[in-house]
This record gives sequence, structure tokens and C-alpha cells, in this order.
Amino acid sequence: MKKLCLRSPAKLNLALDVLAKRSDGYHELKTVFERIDLCDRITLWPRADGLVKVICSHPQVPKGPANLAAKAAMLLKQDLNLAQGLNIHIEKKIPVAAGLAGGSSNAATVLLGLNRLWKLRLSQKQLRDYAGRLGSDVTFFIYDVSYAVGEGRGEKIRPLPIPTKLWHLLVTPRVKMLTKDVFGRLNLDLTNKMDSVNILLPYLRKSVPSAIGPKLANGLEPAILSLRPDFARLKKKMSDAGACGVCFSGSGPSVFALARSKQHAGQMKARLDRRFAQVKIVSTL
Ligand code: C5P
Repeated sequence: MKKLCLRSPAKLNLALDVLAKRSDGYHELKTVFERIDLCDRITLWPRADGLVKVICSHPQVPKGPANLAAKAAMLLKQDLNLAQGLNIHIEKKIPVAAGLAGGSSNAATVLLGLNRLWKLRLSQKQLRDYAGRLGSDVTFFIYDVSYAVGEGRGEKIRPLPIPTKLWHLLVTPRVKMLTKDVFGRLNLDLTNKMDSVNILLPYLRKSVPSAIGPKLANGLEPAILSLRPDFARLKKKMSDAGACGVCFSGSGPSVFALARSKQHAGQMKARLDRRFAQVKIVSTL
């Protein structure tokens, strides 16, 4: 039986501006995505009964139709009128509901994988359209790029041909934060109107971490801190450990510290490992 094994990477947001609230309830964003080497492993193989099943040992990952990877397969089945059944095994390494887009990445990986497994010959444009229907962060993962600007809900992607390789220390507190709750806490009147994406980009191109660090910014930070004021201490501890810059990813709670090098990331890890759970060294993929 043919099995397809695929890597499903996480992302960080190096800059994120919230521009406006839209009439559909979403927010208009501008963000810089970075693909990182923290990856789930997804295995796809056929099943004879025509159903779509998710197999995953992680307690927080939904196994039924609510799983975004299952939704991706069902969307293709329904839209293209396909009878095939599918098993989706997810080996979870990306923390769940953590601002790292693990579920979105899994959905994009299933779209890309089924295009091969089921020989669908979908164009990249068609894959992007399906991705956009599944969630705001899914489209970025259809592109095979390290960096991109995301606009609209986050689904309008402009790949950035930047060769910079960054090293980070990623800390993910073990708390559940729902994206919609964080957006619900936003007060756009009080939100910083800086164009942090365009401020960051020239520094990202020059590839000097000490210059990039101070330009990392996330417009959702006030909303995240209003839900969890204690995270300000976590950010401070990471700064004090010598980071070039510290920033939340997406709607949190993951926080990343930008390091000067792999070795520097290792030094920060040695200082923070004892204090926090889920501390990982990650780099650009
Ligand atoms: O698109 P996704 O399912 O990832 O979004 C989850 C929730 O986050 C949305 O229901 C919405 O409340 C909020 N959101 C938003 N604006 C965005 C992206 C997400 O308000 N651009």
C-alpha cells in the first residue's frame, strides 16, 4: 500500500500589524511569516471505506471532522466529487494552539500531499484557493519559501526571496489561548499604527540579528498581555538572557527570542531551560 510521509513545518510572525476590523468579523493584517524547522510528520495512506480518519496520540488534537487536516481532505473530496478514503497520521511536535500555525500547516500539507497521492494535478493557484477557504494561515504553507508577507486575513501571500537564516529560542507556555479570544480583546484605537512590516524588511534583508531584533513587533501583544499579564515577565526573562529581540508569535502564547547564532541560542536555552517548560531552539527552514 502506498504511504506518503511529509514534513509539516511551523511558522513565526516576525512582524504583525493589525490594520482594521472587517465587516466579516476578521481583521485586516500585514505580517512577515518565517517558516521554521519545528515540524510535525504527516503520513497519508488510502483506506477502502471512503472515509477520512485522523490518527494522532496528542490529547489536544481533534480526531474527528473538526481537525483542519481532515477538513482539507473532505474539502477536496466534496469539491472534486472523489470517492477515495484516507488515513491521516499526525506525529505532533508543534505545540497545539500556540501561535505557531501547526493545524494550518497540517491542512496545507494534506492539500499538497493529496495532490500527489490522488494525482489531482491541481495548480498552485487552485491549492491556494482551497487553503484560503480552510483558514487564514494555511496559504503561507502552500508556498515553498522561508519568508513571506501575508495580507488580507493573512492569506494573501507575497513570497520574499531573502536568504537570511535566523536562530531563535522558542518558549511555549502550557496555557490555552484561542486566537479568536485574543482578537476579541483588541482595542484598535489603542493599537500601534506603525508599519512594522516595512520597518523590519530592510533589516531582515541585511541579515544582522542585532539589527533585526529591535524591529520585531506584534500588534496583538497588548491583547495577549491583557489576557495574561504575567507573560510580560516571561518576555523580560528572555530579554535578560541576552536576546537580540523578543516577540510573541501570532496570537501567542509562544514567545521567541532572536539569537545571534546557533551557539547563542544554546546559551540562552541553558539559562531558561530550568525556569520554563517547552523551550526549543529553532531556525529558518
Ligand atoms: O482563520 P482562522 O480560523 O485561523 O481564525 C481564527 C479566528 O481568529 C477567527 O475566527 C477570528 O476570530 C480571528 N481572526 C481575525 N482576523 C484574522 C485572522 C483570525 O479576527 N485575520
